[in-house]
Amino acid sequence: MAFTSAVIGLGGMGTWHVENIQKKVPRIHVKGAYDIRPEALEKTGRLGIQAYGSLDELLGDPEIDLVTIAIPNDMHKDTAIKALRAGKNVVCEKPVTLNSAELEEIIAVQKETGKLFSVHQNRRWDKDFNIVKAAKDQGLLGDLTFVESKVQGSRQSMYGWRGHKQNGGGMLLDWGVHLLDQIMQLDKSKIVKVDSHLLSVYTPGVDDNIKLMLLFESGMSAVLEMSTMCLINSYRWHVEGTSGTLCIRDWNCEGELYQLKADAAMEWDEDIVYTEAGPTRTMAPRPKYTMNQLPLPEVHVDWSDYYNNICDVLEGKAELIVKPEQSLRVMRVIDLLFRATEEGHGFACEL
Ligand SMILES: NC(=O)c1ccc[n+]([C@@H]2O[C@H](COP(=O)([O-])OP(=O)(O)OC[C@H]3O[C@@H](n4cnc5c(N)ncnc54)[C@H](O)[C@@H]3O)[C@@H](O)[C@H]2O)c1
Repeated sequence: MAFTSAVIGLGGMGTWHVENIQKKVPRIHVKGAYDIRPEALEKTGRLGIQAYGSLDELLGDPEIDLVTIAIPNDMHKDTAIKALRAGKNVVCEKPVTLNSAELEEIIAVQKETGKLFSVHQNRRWDKDFNIVKAAKDQGLLGDLTFVESKVQGSRQSMYGWRGHKQNGGGMLLDWGVHLLDQIMQLDKSKIVKVDSHLLSVYTPGVDDNIKLMLLFESGMSAVLEMSTMCLINSYRWHVEGTSGTLCIRDWNCEGELYQLKADAAMEWDEDIVYTEAGPTRTMAPRPKYTMNQLPLPEVHVDWSDYYNNICDVLEGKAELIVKPEQSLRVMRVIDLLFRATEEGHGFACEL
């Protein structure tokens, strides 16, 4: 069965959806797009799709089964509700809404209409994340203890509408939602403690350099960091487990994985580190003969699985991968992370 879709908002990401569905998801025919700026719709000719004159015209087209919402964050809620009420299945860009209460409103309408609703958490298909997940799932690292997941830009401020609070700008809603969704897929146990440092350094009025701290019921502790003025990047991922350590340096997914040997016996007196000011055994590197270096797990990722899953669900053949309840959990964590910075303290929670 083939599905017909339309895109609402033909800016950077809306255009990306059109081009990538056309290239990689033959089961979906993109019929057209609507954008509030007529100049954005000039692209429709090159893309070979129809330009709708209004949102109502797009939503009134009975051929459209599925709409993708790719407009600034503050308009997601009303547009999603309108599309669901018009009988459309909806894929909504991240962050789905500005807070959990808004998403609850969408979910209520989704349930009432029985239509599909899913958030485009595309970074679940990023290779770096899937390497970390595979290493965990294959037991290569033991139980995870400390996980650092960082994305570091160098262009200082937030770009365009992302720099305005009223549009749902700021880093927590922009990249925070990706890194939170990933870490909550990596460890599906409850989050029991959160704290945040949401700095506004270069973009007045919104958070642009942020650190999020999460403790999971499993015992795993995570630090998620996003910055906009980093000229020497640290690792994209640094993952410590009870029997191994993994790092992934950058978007190219180069990295290393070391694992303790089954018999990792060593003497404390070996390889003591002496600095100018003193000795340390505790922080000395592990003797090399007690470890194995393993290749990073091979993973095959294909973003088109996101839309193929949507088609499978519409055909009644599969369960939704990115479920609204998962997005609701993420938004509830985000609510608390905003509060943590506003109130100046972390929270114990059960999320
Ligand atoms: N998942 C990802 O990897 C990813 C990447 C980038 C952006 N996004 C998300 O996609 C959405 C759009 O971001 P972007 O980077 O494409 O922004 P953008 O500014 O490039 O594009 C937004 C477009 O929406 C249009 N628009 C604004 N209000 C509208 C309305 N009421 N009706 C119709 N069109 C309207 C604008 O004219 C513009 O063309 C955001 O929610 C953003 O967070 C997701």
